[in-house]
This record gives sequence, C-alpha cells and structure tokens, in this order.
Amino acid sequence: MPTQTEAPAAATAQELRFPPDFWWGAATAAYQIEGAVADDGRTKSIWDTFCATPGLVVDGHTGDVAADHYHRYREDVALMREIGLSAYRFSVSWPRVQPGGRSGENPAGIAFYDRLVDELLTAGIKPAATLYHWDLPQELEDRGGWTARDTALRFADYAAVVAARLGDRVKLWCTLNEPWCSAFLGYGAGFHAPGRKNPADALLATHHLLLGHGLAAQALRAAVPTAQVSIALNQGAVRSLTDSAGDRDAARRIDGLLNRIYLDPIMTGAYPADVMADTAAVSDWSFVRDGDLAVISAPIDALGVNYYAPDLVSAAATPHEEPSVYPASQDITFHQTPGPRTEMGWTVDPTGLRDVLTGVHRRFPDLPMYVTENGAAYDDRVDADGRVRDDERIAYLRAHLAAAHEAMTAGADLRGYFVWSLLDNFEWAFGYGKRFGIVRVDYDTQQRLLKDSARWYRDVIHAGGIAA
Ligand code: NOJ
Repeated sequence: MPTQTEAPAAATAQELRFPPDFWWGAATAAYQIEGAVADDGRTKSIWDTFCATPGLVVDGHTGDVAADHYHRYREDVALMREIGLSAYRFSVSWPRVQPGGRSGENPAGIAFYDRLVDELLTAGIKPAATLYHWDLPQELEDRGGWTARDTALRFADYAAVVAARLGDRVKLWCTLNEPWCSAFLGYGAGFHAPGRKNPADALLATHHLLLGHGLAAQALRAAVPTAQVSIALNQGAVRSLTDSAGDRDAARRIDGLLNRIYLDPIMTGAYPADVMADTAAVSDWSFVRDGDLAVISAPIDALGVNYYAPDLVSAAATPHEEPSVYPASQDITFHQTPGPRTEMGWTVDPTGLRDVLTGVHRRFPDLPMYVTENGAAYDDRVDADGRVRDDERIAYLRAHLAAAHEAMTAGADLRGYFVWSLLDNFEWAFGYGKRFGIVRVDYDTQQRLLKDSARWYRDVIHAGGIAA
C-alpha cells in the first residue's frame, strides 16, 4: 500500500499549496488520440464499428486519425515535459495488444506502449496506465461483449500480457475507466459503443466489468507484486431538487445506480441491497455467482475519481415515456444545476468534486485517491497573435483544484490530479467539436499549440499550488 502523503501545507491567504510529492498529471485515452487504427496489426474495436454506423457520432467523425498520437508521441511527451507534468495517464488499446481479442500478444502493438513508457520515464514523467478505456475488440462484442461472462476472463488474460511487458516501469494501474459509461451508456442507453439498448444488459455488463476488474487486479499483482492497482470511477455528486421525501429518494436511487453500484462491491464485497431492490423489475441479478464478490472486493491501492459536474434530480409526477439511461428510473427527472456551463452543457460546480472526495473519504478513510480526470470543453479559438486565451478553462481548473485542496484539508488522502485532457481529442459521440485539451490540436495540420491553460498549469506545477 502507498503511504499517506503529507497533509497539504498550511496555505497563506494567497496560496493553496499541495504536498511536494503530489502527482500533477494530464490524461488521455487510446481511441481518442492515437489514430493509426490499422497500423501494426491493430484490429477493430467496438468504437470503430460504432463510428462507422451512420447517425451515431456527430458529423460522422471517427478515431481513424484523431490526434495522430501513435506517430507523434515523442512530440507529445516533449509537450508534457514543457508543461512540467510529473505524471501522465494514458490507456492501452486492447485490439492493438490482442488483435481480434485473441490470447497471446501482438508484439508490434505492445511495442508502441513500451516506447511510450520509456519516452515518459526519460522525460521524468510517471506513467499511469489504464487497461480499458472503452475499446473492446469487436470480435469479443460479437461473442456477447460485456454481457458475456467470458469477456471478464479474456480481460484478465489481456491484463496479464500488458503487465508482463510494462509492469517493470508502470507503477500505477487503472483497470477500467468509468465502467458506468461502458455499461449504462454502451449497453443500456445505446449512446456509446456497442450501442445496445437494454436496461437488463446494463446491469449484466456492470457485473462482468467489475468481475473483469477483480480478475485483472489479480493478474496485475501476480505479474508485478508491487503494482498499485486502482479503478477510475465517474463518481458523481447527486443532489435532490428539494428536500421532499420523493426527491430525496430519487437522489438516493441515482446515487445507487451511479456511485454505490460500483464502489460498494469493490470496497465492501456486496452490491447495495437498495439498488438490487430498485432494479428488481429489470433483473433478478442471478448473474452474480458464488465467489464473484470476493474477487471484485480484493483490496485496491487507490481509487481514481473522474469528476465533471453534479447531478440534480427530482421525482417525476408521471413516469417519462423516453427510456432512462438508468434502469428502472423513468419516474426520475434530471435538472440542469444553476450556474455557468461548459461547452458540453455541464454546470461548473467545483463543490461537487469536494463533496465526492470528502464523501468517499468519510466512508473509506484509509483509501488513497487520485482525481484521474477533471476538465472542461470550451469553444476555444486561436487569436490573431496565435494564442488561445482559454480563461474559462483556467477558471474551471483553478476552482476544481481549490475544491480538491479543500477536501485534502478535510482529511481526504488525495495523491494526485490529472487534467482531462492533455490534447484536444475525439469526444466520443460528440466527435471533434468538443475541445477538452490544454493543448490545442489543429486537425488539418496536426499542429499542437499550448493554450493559456497549459501555461497556467505549468506555473501551478512549478509553484506546487495555486494562488487563492
Ligand atoms: C470521461 C471519459 O473518461 C473521457 O473519455 C471523456 O472524454 C471525458 N469524460 C469527457 O467527456
């Protein structure tokens, strides 16, 4: 287990300082930046298939070229160094390492990550590797995808291959990124690949993803006994519109289906009884077999928290006709939280990050955490003098770092913070229109340009904190 970092240094009125060993990072994901979808033996993932289906991704965008990071990773690591990052979170593409989802390894595919990790270490940047950021090999989806129990076993096999090759140099691992999105958006609502729309499948996929996490954690530890194992969850601050019993119950139910359905089995070895009861009309949960929860709840070394915006809910007077992203929740209404919004339409509310971190800390006081993603999309433009003055993004990042600091002061053991994202990239079903990067990418020329936010972040990293 990692040791507890020092509490943040007492801040002066002007400054919020972070511990000297705090990880200052940025994050990306393979399909969103790499491109090179047919290079070196890579085969299709469910996102290649989803993008090729007309009408599913804005303007028919695909990850075929993306930010061409596969060919430009050296330049990108040089940018990270220029910004002064101490850590970089990337994801490994399963269909590069195991084309067609077959066991064994594709040496040319894994070699890319080998080079990337070496380049990072040479630049003094700690690599943090995510094993699954949504790019399931299409052949595994053809055999049932995450609704098939076998996919969890295949995932452990893949994890063992990656750990054997990179585990001598990568210390921090995330098994899964935001399994809620994979299960609920991918299998329940159909907004993400593979585009299935079945609430029962969302719950089935949830369990198999969690089982895959537990089995992959075992494989990581077997290959690298010192591996630090984590999982990146999109934990949300779920709030009720009013204090009425109905609205508070709606908030309880969404908190269950967004947060506790993942955190509880990992941390306590049981699915929340209220979530199982709430979804009884959709599923009998008979897919949970003896022994599964022991695998899922093997201790993790840290929790990754991805946070963007809070959720505000109320009880609906009459059930909605539109199916809900959340199984058995058509009688719950989602509201826009008041306040400024990002280009995604998400409300800027850093108190949500503070509440998530302090909430997890309250339940699990000894659990180290990383903010594995936090950031904002804005409609950036390049000014005539060649600068991107993304003041709104700077304000967003500053406010959320301050919120993280507040949680640390309240006792949360936060070890690091990763901005989403290093580069502008393929924002899934929204395509390239939403820019989250602190580095701008010109998709015509593939030129990179540090936005003002990247320079601001460099100063923050250099100072070890922010001006209040
Ligand atoms: C979370 C996901 O992990 C990432 O891939 C995505 O781009 C960001 N949220 C922004 O939506």
